[in-house]
Amino acid sequence: MLIKTHRDGFMHPVSSEITPQAVYRDRRDLLKLMASGAAGAGLASWASRQAFAQTARPGKLAPLPGAKSNVAGAVTMEKVTGYKDATSYNNFYEFGTDKADPAQNAHTLKTSPWAVEVEGLVKRPTRFALEDLLKLSTQEERIYRLRCVEGWSMVIPWVGYSLGKLIERVEPLGNAKFVEFITQADPKTMPFVGSRVLDWPYVEGLRMDEAMHPLTLLAFGMYGEVLPNQNGAPVRLVVPWKYGFKSGKSLVRIRFTDREPKTAWNKAAANEYGFYSNVNPNVDHPRWSQATERRIGEDGLFAKRRKTLMFNGYEAQVGQLYAGMDLKKNF
Ligand code: MTE
Repeated sequence: MLIKTHRDGFMHPVSSEITPQAVYRDRRDLLKLMASGAAGAGLASWASRQAFAQTARPGKLAPLPGAKSNVAGAVTMEKVTGYKDATSYNNFYEFGTDKADPAQNAHTLKTSPWAVEVEGLVKRPTRFALEDLLKLSTQEERIYRLRCVEGWSMVIPWVGYSLGKLIERVEPLGNAKFVEFITQADPKTMPFVGSRVLDWPYVEGLRMDEAMHPLTLLAFGMYGEVLPNQNGAPVRLVVPWKYGFKSGKSLVRIRFTDREPKTAWNKAAANEYGFYSNVNPNVDHPRWSQATERRIGEDGLFAKRRKTLMFNGYEAQVGQLYAGMDLKKNF
């Protein structure tokens, strides 16, 4: 609130209103904690409480709770995107190219029965029924930023486990250098499979060390529930330091190879979508800048665009994977 003072006749805020009392008290407690040396622990537990308080179950689908993740960088403290935004503004070209299409059309996706075939250069090729895949490791909640190549981003609480857990299980051979991710392409249940926008199925790929990185998530759920169809049910990939299109939805096949996989977007426009696709504010897309992003849910005339961070803010965790590489060439 603004008040008028006697002295100069100008309007000033009342100081007690600049810092609301509760915040002030919290700060004073924090200062005391710091003095006692307990601030680190105090902050950590405050932070995890914050993160988990943000992610109350929306109550729309079957519950899929996740344990707190210990993986470094797995929980960002940024405000989580609302469930409605995260499930109504999607890219899933099998169901249409408009952002609203997947939410409208993906009810036809048949997610049960479902299996994922793991094959190629591995000692133990295995066909995993979804139920077995779900039980392969502890489900964790990870709050990741997802930055789309088109210049928008979201913060989503995913539920899943590191893809590395599955990879260890099938024992890759020494000559396995890449992993190819092949997604469902069923024209009967996916109305846009067959359209000429992409060469179906939608395929993605990672280098072996990227696939083994603990942040690479095999996700079965979000917001404490199983994945909605439009977000890639029943199982998808989430690679938080890469542009969103690397995170293939509705996976049916994971293949270990000795060659860089031909990915769907690279086949469609090689000069625009490279194999690596690491989030990089210094390398523009040929048709637009990648330096800033719009956070979904923060729209409005005056909402400021955010500066995009190198590797989407995961540089400390993944930068080493690209040491010595020219990221302008390997975009
Ligand atoms: N996976 C499949 N099978 N088909 C797609 O069209 N789109 C990608 C990726 N995975 C896509 C896909 C793109 S461009 C993005 S940005 C993310 O999914 C979007 O994920 P979200 O809708 O859950 O936010």
